Amino acid sequence: MAGFSVDWLDLREAADLRARDVALLARAQQWLDQSSSEQSRDRQQPMIADLGSGTGSTLRAFAAGGVETGRYAWRLIDHDADLLSVASERYGAGHSLETRVADLAQPEHLSLSDINLLTASALFDLVSAEFIESLVASIASQTHPIAVYTALNYDGITRWTPAHKLDMTVLQAFNQDQRRDKGFGPALGPHASACLTQVLTAAGYTVLSASSPWLLRGNHGTAGDTQLMTELIHGIANAVQSSIEQAELQEWINFRLANVHTGSCSVGHMDLLALPQRASR
Ligand SMILES: C[S@@+](CC[C@H](N)C(=O)[O-])C[C@H]1O[C@@H](n2cnc3c(N)ncnc32)[C@H](O)[C@@H]1O
Repeated sequence: MAGFSVDWLDLREAADLRARDVALLARAQQWLDQSSSEQSRDRQQPMIADLGSGTGSTLRAFAAGGVETGRYAWRLIDHDADLLSVASERYGAGHSLETRVADLAQPEHLSLSDINLLTASALFDLVSAEFIESLVASIASQTHPIAVYTALNYDGITRWTPAHKLDMTVLQAFNQDQRRDKGFGPALGPHASACLTQVLTAAGYTVLSASSPWLLRGNHGTAGDTQLMTELIHGIANAVQSSIEQAELQEWINFRLANVHTGSCSVGHMDLLALPQRASR
């Protein structure tokens, strides 16, 4: 789980796609088609800008939801040029797709004036409240309405079976680590959805939400589920190692690894769709 390698993003992809709320994604597409036909008569394709895009997971999610993704122009923005080049290799042909290497922590450099839909997945738990406020102020001040679709915001609830006596201690330490600065100031971690909802609502948006947990099973899941649980255990242990006594933590790691083939894990997330009020119905 360390960093955001292509391998890690590919590994979590199946769980992400299963988790995303399909109704919100469909509603985002519906809004995009409706508003772009009203607003952008001079442009053929509505523009989607995906922040922290990685290798293009939002585009894949739209495609998995049955959306013909080639109908839209895509701007993928990330500070990792390697991830963006993988996205270009995968989707450059058949899509109007541009990639931009940019540090989102400097939002004044983002060009959002020509977009219709702003998207992000598994990103906003890394950012600060200040970043959300500045981003929302920027899109809300544009002369045309821009909707926001954000998926897979971690909500702080991870549950394992079978239970272990250290589960809650590990979870609390992990959630504490989630608040660590990831380059944007103090990270929102599990508070991302609440902050987004509050700031977007205050800016006049109608915010719809749905839970989108990862549901991973050793027995009835895929081989990818057990591999993802294994990586998750190592990633969590790495994040909490300075907060928990080493022998206790090692016992938890050993127990969890011994149970990945028969146990289960759910990791809570929220998906949000924020619609500018004058075009939300
Ligand atoms: C958890 S990954 C999610 C990637 C992708 N959205 C997905 O769902 O697979 C977080 C992404 O945010 C990007 N990211 C993190 N900090 C960033 C920053 N300061 N500027 C731009 N991108 C950033 C990472 O490179 C990574 O691609």
